[in-house]
Amino acid sequence: MSITYNDRIKAWKLDTPNTSYILGVVDEKYLAHIYFGARVEDDNLSYLLRPEEIVPPSIKPEEQLGFMDTVQLEYPCQGIGDFRECCLALKGEDGQTGCNLIYKGYEIINGKGRIKGLPTCFGDNAQTLVIKMTDEISALEVSLSFTVFEDCDAVIRSAKIQNTGKRAFYLERAMSACLDFELENCEIITECGAWAREHIIERTKLNHAAVCAESIRGEEGHDAMPFMAVVSGNADQNSGEVYATQLVYAGNFLAKVKKNPHDQIRMVIGINPETFTWKLESGQSFRTPEAILVYSAYGLGHMTRTFHDLFRNHLIRQDWVRKERPILINNWEATYFDFDKDKLLEIGREAKKRGIELQVLDDGWFGYNRNQPSGGLGDWYVNEAKLEGGLKGLTDELDKMGMKFGLWFEPEMICEDTDLYKKHPEWVVHQKGRIPARARDQWLLDYSNPEVREYIFESMAGIVRSIPVVYIKWDMNRAISDVGSDYLPADRQGEIWHRHVLGVYEIQERLTEEFPYLLIENCSSGGARFDAGMLYYSPQIWCSDDMDPIERLSIQEGTAMLYPVSTIGSHIAKSPNDISWRSVSFESRAVAAMFGTFGYELDITKLPKEEVEQIPGQIERYKSIRKLILEGNYYRLASYRETKEYDAYMIVSNDKKEAFMVYMQVLSKPNSLSRRVKLQGLDPEMHYDVNGVTYGGDVLMNAGILIQRKKDFEAQFVRLKGKGK
Ligand code: GLA
Repeated sequence: MSITYNDRIKAWKLDTPNTSYILGVVDEKYLAHIYFGARVEDDNLSYLLRPEEIVPPSIKPEEQLGFMDTVQLEYPCQGIGDFRECCLALKGEDGQTGCNLIYKGYEIINGKGRIKGLPTCFGDNAQTLVIKMTDEISALEVSLSFTVFEDCDAVIRSAKIQNTGKRAFYLERAMSACLDFELENCEIITECGAWAREHIIERTKLNHAAVCAESIRGEEGHDAMPFMAVVSGNADQNSGEVYATQLVYAGNFLAKVKKNPHDQIRMVIGINPETFTWKLESGQSFRTPEAILVYSAYGLGHMTRTFHDLFRNHLIRQDWVRKERPILINNWEATYFDFDKDKLLEIGREAKKRGIELQVLDDGWFGYNRNQPSGGLGDWYVNEAKLEGGLKGLTDELDKMGMKFGLWFEPEMICEDTDLYKKHPEWVVHQKGRIPARARDQWLLDYSNPEVREYIFESMAGIVRSIPVVYIKWDMNRAISDVGSDYLPADRQGEIWHRHVLGVYEIQERLTEEFPYLLIENCSSGGARFDAGMLYYSPQIWCSDDMDPIERLSIQEGTAMLYPVSTIGSHIAKSPNDISWRSVSFESRAVAAMFGTFGYELDITKLPKEEVEQIPGQIERYKSIRKLILEGNYYRLASYRETKEYDAYMIVSNDKKEAFMVYMQVLSKPNSLSRRVKLQGLDPEMHYDVNGVTYGGDVLMNAGILIQRKKDFEAQFVRLKGKGK
């Protein structure tokens, strides 16, 4: 049993392979958080709540405020004397706020099912503890869920909030999880970035000022990730304590941490309250997105591998998660908007000849005027002026070649220069009387309106039904602003942001249900919507428009710290690179693109002969590690962010018999010896073949191998084959 209840002390203990999470009822009322850390056998750790020190109200009712402001809580409410960040805030129709949740009961459920309409972790080898609390004055019931899987060091949390009374109220804040704990001399890790330089790891000391990662852009955006970790100051890849959280959500989020004057730390994560209100009528309920909590006593590497395992085993659509992804060629950087059927077929023929498996037609194939960003979005029918014979004509030809086909959509958007806008100007998200700000010359469709969702779903599904398309790139190229809906009533306007996200989920869920074979790759101006919410629907996400292999070192390091390498959309682009202007050899670009799904995004028909002839070898090499990428364990050996000189990572199979390492020399240091790199994750007793030389696993991990320095920007690929013990 992973979850046990001790009635004598009124405490629950949730065990994962290496951690324990303990919570209990204090003062016969409040749901307190007692412990989260390395696995312990005893469940009676309530002394950690310091009942003698924090003047519990049962002893000194006159000091209840002091108690509320220091007791560790699982789901703190606003306005009742806990002055730390809260999880729940509501307002009645009379304008009054305040809520006081009192424990009512619990149940333990075997397994973890999916929830329609929301991305959630799932699996049979799990147990879920559901704890019910109520606030009598507002007639509100909160059910907190805590799930643990037998094979993973993570706790999955969420809250369901139900109005059991007769009058409506407004949720003004409904966070997914709170974690109260203590850790001395700690630091905060977050990820930040911008377009073309996403997911960069940042680390800062935690003093008493709050630190937060957040978004109000409608998605997490390029500049923050729905993730936060509090780590001991000395934490590195292999040692130190880590308390990490991620939100399974593709919209506005807040992850916030603060240390109170007693050095107690509170970390909360959930939908960003700044852009959220939700009206709950009598009998209605609201479910928060899931939050993941991970504790690692073995540094950041274990946190990363826990997230990877959780997502691969319990989140990503199982159909695709372990299936080999096709090696694709995408025409965006090859042609931008300037293509016709002949050009695409020319690319397809050359690509097929070299071993590429799937051709993706990117932006520009639809509407009457999509030759620049200002037109077309919303008119999801083919432009026959560009594609004679339509998509059918193109796919018939590709089919004959044996080339699979994929197609780009940007389904959440509308351009003014479209038939759709002429027919339905009211479908644009806008504030009455104001023209919404344009971004990339486009506006947002009002996904709170079911008619809009139906139109978009049918436009996409109609195409997928009529041609053999096996892959869809779902793009999203602007942040959400000027929020207002002609469809929703006045008292529900604050719901637009969350309803938009639910609308995206709904359409992607319908697509995956009707076309279970479909491989969806999510994308948002590169990597602005790379999160666990989207991973539920799409097993791979475009990581960044920046395909320069040197830039990609930090982008991919940050992405892989949170998400499996197999989910990272990664392509070889032209050189010099269109975004960074840097020139890097074809071979190094190919090695860099193996960190993920591997594909080409250049005009293959214009490549010099010596480069195009390298493609079959690159593909063969990638295919030889494709399974490792899908299933193996990832180890970060060195980070260019930190070394300023080189970067290295490796992936090891579960049975430790197969592995590969990639080393990238970025800036050479004159007059230096070969570099000694210590490997990780191998079997110390196994012998390995490395470039024809046999080493013991213990030697490779403790003494390391010597990497000869090459020119700047030269990547090296090292294969390891276990030879037995
Ligand atoms: C976004 C994507 C690119 C490409 C373009 C097309 O920027 O990130 O990969 O699809 O849109 O407009």
